[in-house]
Amino acid sequence: MASTSHVFSAAILLLLIASYFIFPSYGITQDFLRTICSQTQNMEICGEILGSDPRTESADLPLLSVISLELAMKQAYQNYITLLELHVNSTDPTLEASFAKCLVLYKDLKHKLEDDLLLSLQKQFKNITNLGGLTTLVIDCENGIPLNAPANSITRDMFLTMQSAIFVHEFVSRSA
Ligand SMILES: *[C@@H]1O[C@H](CO)[C@@H](O)[C@H](O)[C@H]1NC(C)=O
Ligand SMILES: *[C@@H]1O[C@H](CO)[C@@H](O)[C@H](O)[C@H]1NC(C)=O
Repeated sequence: MASTSHVFSAAILLLLIASYFIFPSYGITQDFLRTICSQTQNMEICGEILGSDPRTESADLPLLSVISLELAMKQAYQNYITLLELHVNSTDPTLEASFAKCLVLYKDLKHKLEDDLLLSLQKQFKNITNLGGLTTLVIDCENGIPLNAPANSITRDMFLTMQSAIFVHEFVSRSA
């Protein structure tokens, strides 16, 4: 079953990439968006994340690359602010140290996403190779935080935003 569906999605992928070359001026379709998002852990949320930018509807793949990175940067920035507040607010020294570590990780994440966005704007899609590794920064932050802390939902949002960007870039670098 699994291999059949892999062959099937590979066929769909080829079809989509072929149609992208045949009709390069066409924006990506809802079907294409679904194909990208079906590879993430939560297809629905991925669609909501990418669809939250009004440009997505008429975007081509290069623009979708820019959009997905900008959304990741926005989420990283929001998380940084929330983590900063949680850090300031925390009274438990262990938790405070965990949030301090998160702030360092998120600063790194923000800088690397900025570099990726520059590459994307230069259409150097194949050079955007660190997204999978950046997800590790998000996980490293989450690992230091107790499960019931309010930070868990923001790290889940960050993780899904990163995953959306990762799969967008899998498509973009294959077609670039
Ligand atoms: C931090 O504390 C302030 C003041 O009590 C509160 O308004 C804010 O929501 C808290 N921030 C977080 C992220 O919990
Ligand atoms: C992208 O990678 C290629 C090959 O490694 C390199 O020659 C090129 O300078 C890179 N482009 C940018 C903008 O970093």
